[in-house]
Amino acid sequence: MNARELKNKFIEFFVSQGHVEIPSASLVPENDPTTLFISAGMHPLVPYLLGTPHPLGKRLVDVQKCVRTGDIEEVGDTYHHTFFEMLGNWSLGDYFKEDAIKFSYQFLTSVLGFDPKRLSVTVFAGDQNAPKDEESSKIWQSLGITNISYLPKENNWWGPAGTTGPCGPDTEMFLDGVEVWNDVFMQYNKTADGKFELLPKPNVDTGMGVERTVAFLNGFNDDYLSSIWQPIIKKIEELSNKEYSQDPKPFRVIADHIRTAVFMIADGVEPSNKEAGYVLRRVIRRSIRQAKLLGINTNFTKIIAQAVIDNKDNYAGIYPELNDNQNKIFEILENEETKFRKTLDRGLNEINKLITRQHNVSGKEAFDLYQSFGFPVEMIQEELQKNNLSLNLEEFNQCKDEHIKQSQTLSAGKFKSGLADHSEIITKYHTTTHLLHASLRKVLGDHVQQSGSNITAERLRFDFSHDQKLTEEQLKQITDLVNDQISRKLVVTKETMPFVQAQAENALAFFGTKYPEIVSVYTIGDFSKEVCTGPHIENTQILGKFEIIKEESAGSGKRRVYAILH
Ligand code: ALA
Repeated sequence: MNARELKNKFIEFFVSQGHVEIPSASLVPENDPTTLFISAGMHPLVPYLLGTPHPLGKRLVDVQKCVRTGDIEEVGDTYHHTFFEMLGNWSLGDYFKEDAIKFSYQFLTSVLGFDPKRLSVTVFAGDQNAPKDEESSKIWQSLGITNISYLPKENNWWGPAGTTGPCGPDTEMFLDGVEVWNDVFMQYNKTADGKFELLPKPNVDTGMGVERTVAFLNGFNDDYLSSIWQPIIKKIEELSNKEYSQDPKPFRVIADHIRTAVFMIADGVEPSNKEAGYVLRRVIRRSIRQAKLLGINTNFTKIIAQAVIDNKDNYAGIYPELNDNQNKIFEILENEETKFRKTLDRGLNEINKLITRQHNVSGKEAFDLYQSFGFPVEMIQEELQKNNLSLNLEEFNQCKDEHIKQSQTLSAGKFKSGLADHSEIITKYHTTTHLLHASLRKVLGDHVQQSGSNITAERLRFDFSHDQKLTEEQLKQITDLVNDQISRKLVVTKETMPFVQAQAENALAFFGTKYPEIVSVYTIGDFSKEVCTGPHIENTQILGKFEIIKEESAGSGKRRVYAILH
């Protein structure tokens, strides 16, 4: 079964169950300034999930184009995609858990023919916002499914799509351990101050990824082997004279990113240095860099775009915006590629001049190249390596930091906690604050947002949004989580990047704060990522032992903790 057939079967099935098919909305949200792209099928339906009646009724079904910018860096493995299509069915205050789960089960087993023995599910374990989902579990059991796990908010809660809006506990379905479908029981509205309000009527929102399901239906454990991707990959093989099977990663990145660019341009996005336009520019540039690694040295993006638009198994004739905007798509890609290749060539020339003249490129010179040509630092490093030289990355980063400091405005420079004292103990508490922030979110939920921080040489104080007193058990979990990260000896790294990129990579930042265009992002191992001016320690191992000494209210909907290191 190819993607076109899967999509048809999905729509047919839900229409036969009383749903009305609606068209995919544009990738660019119409009324939502909190996100750059539509990231799920429910996203364009937010007003209806909040209670406005939908003109086509209470049961809807569609295939929605989505982009998840947070996944750009992940692309290259077998299943991440920046752009993808999501199959979804909705109940707007109509049926709830029982029918939703039965529909999902019936579609997976009777229509698609998957053996129920391969199916396992997860349900919500319950927390202070919503109870344990025994009801879903019972429904699954009544269908003969016994492989059921209860998981916390981190796993079994979906939404909101932006920072506020409809959300709720979900039940996820897995085939052979890989997630294929998610049924969300949207009963809550998350408000700007982090509260979960009950919606007037409960809704169902579901999402099933077309790419992964098609791969499954054809017995592939690599999404990119299906006919959604193969015509595109074949073109890249022709152009590069290399084979996908030898080293799939660059093929996947190019195919994913150009497909994303095609759909973005078709929906009116144009390359620029900010917001959606910046994401578009970034995916185009990243694909050109991968193409260069494959030895494709002439413009190729247009050719790949053509292969996307012509894909008869999935897109041709289904998305008229692709054909209607074909010339614009080609023109934009061609321009961007020509400009970026020139940039790369000029930069390469400069580097090679330096190498010939002085047998070296200093960190400062590399920074100048980066600064004036937008030349990626990895390519400077690669070029040096070819000549058995290496880049002084520390000096490069120093120059970059200095430049950023100079260009930050005074007010923007004060954006985080405004630390003036950089002594070691203060720096330690500062890094601990990031660990605490991430731990609070993991234990209590994503509604936790920093609302204040104050550090002295004796202790840290941290205020955050949460409307209940923390229990002993929660305090213990949080403390243990922080101490675990300390003993894991996590490395703290700093990167500078445009603020929009930091947001796209899900770095924590203060909602509503005006950040400079370029920001520093501090990452602590795999545990925390925050936009912050720093400074921070280099490794969590020097933090010693963390202890929360007091927990209290910090006003309406806010809590405060005091903690020490010893
Ligand atoms: N909105 C849900 C998701 O994206 C269905 O997984």
